[in-house]
Amino acid sequence: MPKRIPEQTFWNERFEKEGYLFGTEPNSFLKSQATLFSPGQKVLSVADGEGRNGTFLADLGTDVHAVDFSDVALAKAEKLAAERGVTIRTEQVDLLSHEFSPQTYHAVVAIFIQFATPEQRGRLFENLKNALKSGGLFVLQGYRPEQIEYGTGGPPERTNMYTEEFLRQTFADFDIKHLHSHDDSIDEGPGHSGMSALIDLIAKKPT
Ligand SMILES: C[S@@+](CC[C@H](N)C(=O)[O-])C[C@H]1O[C@@H](n2cnc3c(N)ncnc32)[C@H](O)[C@@H]1O
Repeated sequence: MPKRIPEQTFWNERFEKEGYLFGTEPNSFLKSQATLFSPGQKVLSVADGEGRNGTFLADLGTDVHAVDFSDVALAKAEKLAAERGVTIRTEQVDLLSHEFSPQTYHAVVAIFIQFATPEQRGRLFENLKNALKSGGLFVLQGYRPEQIEYGTGGPPERTNMYTEEFLRQTFADFDIKHLHSHDDSIDEGPGHSGMSALIDLIAKKPT
């Protein structure tokens, strides 16, 4: 990455603390979708952080490319993978400028990636959708705007959160297999803890 940006310092400082900010267990929604993934599939784990989701996907036998702009988080992800006896390929990228190769992954996994503003996320999502192979799956869990009232995780910007309308528009050219808004209590380390306004998506790229 060419230069350190302030948001990267913010995240590195959070990840420098002892322990795992979002825990070491995979996100519950992702875990519930384990049967979607088959050994040998190429999976992009977007903004994978300290590797709880990337290592889970590798444990399913998939070929994981875990990207994030925090070098501190990626080092912890590699340590977690080694402890679990799995391999993930980590790469430090700024997702707001990095271009992925088209038609590369069988699945893109995006768990809590609300760092992009409404102005930034159109390009981000197009880039990630483009990186999927035809027939590939986009698996996402994020926060809805109502999360601001809960204050149990996520950025302070309401407009960065996802609505069903936004996801329907963004994935209008995909087959939306599952789109579900729900409020549930989550326990994902000190970073995500308590009642939360969530939204889940599984969308398939046309063949
Ligand atoms: C809420 S955390 C989620 C981490 C992980 N997906 C999980 O569920 O444990 C958001 C992640 O986005 C990363 N991130 C934020 N802005 C980014 C950017 N522009 N490029 C790459 N990663 C970014 C942070 O470093 C952090 O790891």
